[in-house]
Amino acid sequence: MNRTIVLTGDRPTGKMHLGHYVGSLKNRFEMQDEFQCFFMIADYQALTTHQNRAGDLAAHVQEMVLDYLAAGFDPQKSACFLQSQVPQLAELTVIFSNLVTLPRLLRNPTVKEEMEKMGLEKRTTYGFVGYPVSQAADILLFRPQYVPVGPDQRPHIELAREVAARFNRTYGDVFPIPHGVYGALLKGTDGQSKMGKSYGNAIDLSDSEASVRAKVMNMVTDPRRVRATDPGNPDVCSAFHYRTVFDEARADQVARTCRKGAVGCTTCKAALADVLNDFMTPFRNRRKAFEKQPDLVRDILNLGSAKARIEGQRTLEKVKEAMGMGYKFLMG
Ligand code: TRP
Repeated sequence: MNRTIVLTGDRPTGKMHLGHYVGSLKNRFEMQDEFQCFFMIADYQALTTHQNRAGDLAAHVQEMVLDYLAAGFDPQKSACFLQSQVPQLAELTVIFSNLVTLPRLLRNPTVKEEMEKMGLEKRTTYGFVGYPVSQAADILLFRPQYVPVGPDQRPHIELAREVAARFNRTYGDVFPIPHGVYGALLKGTDGQSKMGKSYGNAIDLSDSEASVRAKVMNMVTDPRRVRATDPGNPDVCSAFHYRTVFDEARADQVARTCRKGAVGCTTCKAALADVLNDFMTPFRNRRKAFEKQPDLVRDILNLGSAKARIEGQRTLEKVKEAMGMGYKFLMG
């Protein structure tokens, strides 16, 4: 059996969208045939930004498992688990917290950006600046080779690699150095550089056909193109970006007809809506099938969390052994 391990995860703060799919879900679900995959729903990490909304997590977690299933997660092949059900993660976080300096944490560009976005600078919690340490534990507890994530996660993967190397140097070789596998960055429906649930510019994996169509028809095309017969510039069109990602084979031709003013924006966007809806049809079919199995989400998470605890306990024993904290004197 192939023991190459893949670990990745997401904060359960809302519905997943096409940006998640292109950035990470696609890559990770393609790895399921070849590797042993673990997918974590990071509910404790969600607390770092949503501490007042802990009560919403239960619903978000269940929604997220359905999003995973719709996007291609196969519970026969891979494990999906809940961070808070695996106490070994918290234990490893405590150990790692002594291997990372505070200036190193404060330099993290993703953390800085999130802090600015939330206007939190002066009220940042210890848990929030420290979440990349906890994420390093999320990753390293499973000793994975690959971590498929969106490009915004790069600083966290780099920190996990540093922590692994520092641990190995300090105490002995326990951790393989993991590799990030980065997907593409998808723009928002408003043309903003990033699709994000908090920006209101997302196409959710669970959107209906009508909702996808409405979102596409609202996309801003070349503002200088007034009449359908005016020549257009696909480089400034929010809709065209989606052609390059979801309709690659025809993107060049679409760009040419746009530049010639041969096809109007309304017609062009209606065709794009069809492309996206075709792309999402398998998601909708799988979701419908899985929604009919009421105990499925519960069983997936219980089974996956049990498996994660076993894997986690194994690593934690190696960690303590390497540190000289296996405490044999307590036994027998
Ligand atoms: N930071 C990730 C996000 O914002 C979630 C996450 C938590 C994660 N632990 C992880 C991703 C471990 C990859 C590996 O979605």
